[in-house]
Amino acid sequence: MAIPTQSPVSGPVVNQTGSLPKHDVADLGLAGEGKRRIEWAEREMPVLRLIRERFEREKPLAGLRIAACLHVTTETANLVRTLKAGGADVVLCASNPLSTQDYTAAALVAEYGISTFARHGADRDMYYSHLNAAADIRPHMTMDDGCDLVTLIHQDRRDQLTEILAGTEETTTGVIRLKAMAADGALGYPVMAVNEALTKHLFDNRYGTGQSTLDGVLRATNLLIAGRHVVVAGYGWCGKGIASRFRGMGAQVAVVEVDQVRALEALMDGNLVMTIGDAAPWGDIFITATGDIHVIRAEHFKVMRDGAIMANSGHFDCEIDLPALNELAGDRVREVRDNVVEYTIGDRRVHVLAEGRLVNLSAAEGHPAAVMDMSFANQALCAEYLRGKHKDLANGVYDVPEEIDVEVARLKLAALGIVLDPLTPEQTKYLASWQHGT
Ligand SMILES: NC(=O)c1ccc[n+]([C@@H]2O[C@H](COP(=O)([O-])OP(=O)(O)OC[C@H]3O[C@@H](n4cnc5c(N)ncnc54)[C@H](O)[C@@H]3O)[C@@H](O)[C@H]2O)c1
Repeated sequence: MAIPTQSPVSGPVVNQTGSLPKHDVADLGLAGEGKRRIEWAEREMPVLRLIRERFEREKPLAGLRIAACLHVTTETANLVRTLKAGGADVVLCASNPLSTQDYTAAALVAEYGISTFARHGADRDMYYSHLNAAADIRPHMTMDDGCDLVTLIHQDRRDQLTEILAGTEETTTGVIRLKAMAADGALGYPVMAVNEALTKHLFDNRYGTGQSTLDGVLRATNLLIAGRHVVVAGYGWCGKGIASRFRGMGAQVAVVEVDQVRALEALMDGNLVMTIGDAAPWGDIFITATGDIHVIRAEHFKVMRDGAIMANSGHFDCEIDLPALNELAGDRVREVRDNVVEYTIGDRRVHVLAEGRLVNLSAAEGHPAAVMDMSFANQALCAEYLRGKHKDLANGVYDVPEEIDVEVARLKLAALGIVLDPLTPEQTKYLASWQHGT
C-alpha cells in the first residue's frame, strides 16, 4: 500500500483575480486570519522590522525580481514583505508541500499584494507547477530553502541562467547540494549560504529546530516525554537542539552519529551514544536530523518496540526508509490520528509522523519567529549585499560576510535591550600584544 497522504490537492496555476497579483492559493477567505498571525509573528521579529524600515526609505532592491522558494509561514511572510519594501518584485512558492500555511498564503496575496503559489498538501505535480510559476517571473535573484528552485532552473530552464545575478540558500541540505553543483562546475551563478551564518545556524537550527521538533511530536501524539527513550540521529546543529529539548522534558536520549567528534560531544553533553542497530529495539521515539538517506531501514523497523514513533526533522523525507516500511507492513497501514500513520509488522505497531517530512513544519508551525528574525535578517541583508557585489563573485557558494553576521547579532541584542561591555583601552592593548607572560 502506498504511503497515505493528506488528501493531495492539485489544480491549474492560474488567476489574475481583479487587482490581485498572480497566485494559486487554497482559500483567499483565510486572508484575515493570516494577516493577524503575520502581525503576531512580526512582534517577535524586531531585527527584520528595523531592516524593513530602512529598506522602505532606501529602496536598495528597486527593480530586482526575486523568486523565493521557502516554507510559506508567517515568518516568511515578514521576510517577503521586507523584500517588497526594499523595492523588489517578489514571487513566493513553497519549498515543501506540507509546510504551507494556507492562511499565510492567502494573506500574502490579498493583504500584502505579493504573488504567491502555495497550497498545503500540494501533490508533486502542483508543487513543481508552483516552482515553475515562480521561475516565470524571470528572476534576477533566487532565494531557496533546499535548493529545489536552483535545481529546476539548472535542469529545465537553463536559458534563464544568464539573467540571474545571484541567489541565497537557507538550509544545510541545500548548501550541500549547491557545493556538489559547484564542485561539478555546474553552478550557473553565485549563491550565498545563509545557513552558514553564525546568527543563522547557532540559533535557528539549534534552538528553532530543537523546540519546534518537540512541539511537532507533541501536537501529533500528545505523548508524555518524561521517562521515554528518545533516539536522535545526527548530532549536528539541529540534532543538538532536539536532544537537549527532549532531555529537558525528562527523556533519556541516545544519539546515533557517524562522525567521531560529534559522537564524543553528544556523550559529554549527557546523552548515550549507540548505533542505530542497538538503538532500534531500545527507543520509544526516533527523530532523524542528518540530511542523509535511509538512516532508519528495514532491519531496524523489524526489531522496534510495539508503539515506537518515528519522525524526521531533516530537510527531505528520505531519512526514514518509507518504501521499505510500506513493503514490510503490506496493507496493514492506517492513519490513527492527524499526522500519525501506523504500520503493523507482525504483532507490533510502529508509527511515522507527518509522512516522514519535516515534523516541526508539518505537524506544528515551524520555528518560533524570534529565531527566524535572525535567519531572515541575514536573507534580507544578503539580498542587498549581492545586489551590489554580484559582479565581483564567480559562480560558487559563498559564506555570509562577517559584517552581516555581526550586524544581525548587534541589532538582536539591541532589540532585547542588552548592552555589552566595550573593551577598555588597556584591554585592547593587552589583547593585541605578545610581550606579557606569567
Ligand atoms: N526542521 C527544520 O526546520 C530544519 C532547520 C534547519 C535545518 N534542517 C535540516 O536538518 C538536517 C540537519 O541539519 P544540521 O544543520 O543539523 O546539519 P549538520 O551537518 O550540522 O548535522 C548533520 C549530522 O548528521 C550526521 N549524520 C550524517 N549521516 C548520518 C547517519 N547516517 N547516521 C547518523 N548521523 C549521521 C553528520 O555526521 C552530522 O553530524 C539538514 O537536512 C537540514 O537541511 C531542518
